Order: sequence, then structure tokens, then C-alpha cells
Amino acid sequence: MAETDKVFTGSIPEFYDTYLVPLIFEKYADDLARRVAGCDPRSVLEVAAGSGVVTRALAQLLKSGSQYMVTDLNQPMLDHAAEKQGVDDRISWRQADALALPFEDGTFDAVACQFGVMFFPDRIAGYAEARRVLSPKGTFFFNVWDRIEANEFAHKVTEAAAELFPEDPPKFLARTPHGYHDVDLIGRELEAAGFSDISITTVEEESVGTSPRHPAIAYCRGDAAWERD
Ligand SMILES: C[S@@+](CC[C@H](N)C(=O)[O-])C[C@H]1O[C@@H](n2cnc3c(N)ncnc32)[C@H](O)[C@@H]1O
Repeated sequence: MAETDKVFTGSIPEFYDTYLVPLIFEKYADDLARRVAGCDPRSVLEVAAGSGVVTRALAQLLKSGSQYMVTDLNQPMLDHAAEKQGVDDRISWRQADALALPFEDGTFDAVACQFGVMFFPDRIAGYAEARRVLSPKGTFFFNVWDRIEANEFAHKVTEAAAELFPEDPPKFLARTPHGYHDVDLIGRELEAAGFSDISITTVEEESVGTSPRHPAIAYCRGDAAWERD
């Protein structure tokens, strides 16, 4: 992964949340939130929370009296998420690297991460951190995208950009967000981090852009890493 792949700053949070989130994040956020809420956690940590699409979905499902710690590496993403969420005394916001979490061992009943682990420079270290901060019976919930060919918007945008720049086609989308989909590898890395009782499910969702401009703006302005390829 290139260093620039994990930079979500400047105008990106706004464009990301307005255009990219409805297109390729929202339905999976609802799915992840339902799964987390299904284990009835009293304390939840979210890592790589971005502009807060999972937070918004999960906050509606968590009971009053729960504690929900929401974190991300990039403060501007978190600021956007916090502003959109509004005041909720169950939720705390904190900038944090998923590979060096500023929390005590065994603090949370659940750790959630949507489409974040692909950006970790060392995934096993990130998984081990999630495990460290989980209580002994806690659960780590996360999702990743399938290969780029199974994700039509990302695939078409990458093909179109490759036609424009045949000498130096951008590879970010295939390399990072869509580069970690081998379920055997995911299972092995979780085991290497100390997890057991691992369950991996494929979830298929379809979304529709409001016009061809929607995915074009979403990918060009909502995530600049591939432009810097
Ligand atoms: C594709 S976005 C997903 C954001 C959010 N979960 C969502 O569903 O919209 C990836 C997020 O990972 C964050 N990120 C990248 N590396 C990270 C790290 N080492 N620790 C915590 N967050 C990280 C980025 O700041 C970005 O918000």
C-alpha cells in the first residue's frame, strides 16, 4: 500500500460523505451495524470510522447506557462524522491509529471496522490490537470489499482512467480498497493475530447512482489517493 492511500483530508470528507458513501458504503454500514447490535454490546469501539456512516446506523440500534467510542486516523473525517451525528452522550470521539489503540486491554464488548483494514500498514498488528482491547468474550466485526471486477463502479472508473492514461494507469482502487478479498488469507491473518471462532460471509448489495455524474464525482473528489498514483 502506498502512504498516500490512507490520506483522507482537505475537501475529501465532504465529497466522500456526500457522494461516495451513498454509492458504496451505506448498505454495508446498515449490515455491519445490525450484526454488531445483534450481540447486544454495552461498549463498542469503532476504528477507521471515517465520516461516520456506520456510527449513524449503529447509534440508532445501541441501547441507552451503552458506551460507543468512535475513532479514525484522520481527524478531518472524524470531525465531519461528529458534526453530522450531533450530540449523543453515549458516543465519544477520538483520533486513533488502529495499530496503536489508546485503550486498556479488554475494554470493549465489540470492535467494528467498515472498509478500513485494507488501509492498515500491518493488518495482523491491527487485528491483534482489536483483540487486545476486546473483552474475553468480545467480537471483532469488520468488512472488506470483494475484488474490483465484482464492484462495477470502481471497475468502470478504473477502466476509464486507464484509457485516459494508458502509459501510467491508476492502480489505487485495485491495489488497496479492492486488494484484500481472499477469504483464506483473511482467516489466516486473523488466526495469526490470535482470533478463533472466525466466520466470514459474502454480502451482495446493489446501489444506483443518481446520474453518471454521481459516481464520477464520488471517485474523483471523494478519494484522491488514486489520482496521486
Ligand atoms: C474507506 S474509508 C472507510 C471509512 C468508514 N469506515 C466508512 O465506512 O465510510 C477508510 C478509513 O480508514 C481510515 N484509516 C486508514 N488507516 C488507518 C489507521 N491506521 N487507523 C485508523 N484509521 C485508519 C481513514 O482515515 C479512512 O477514514
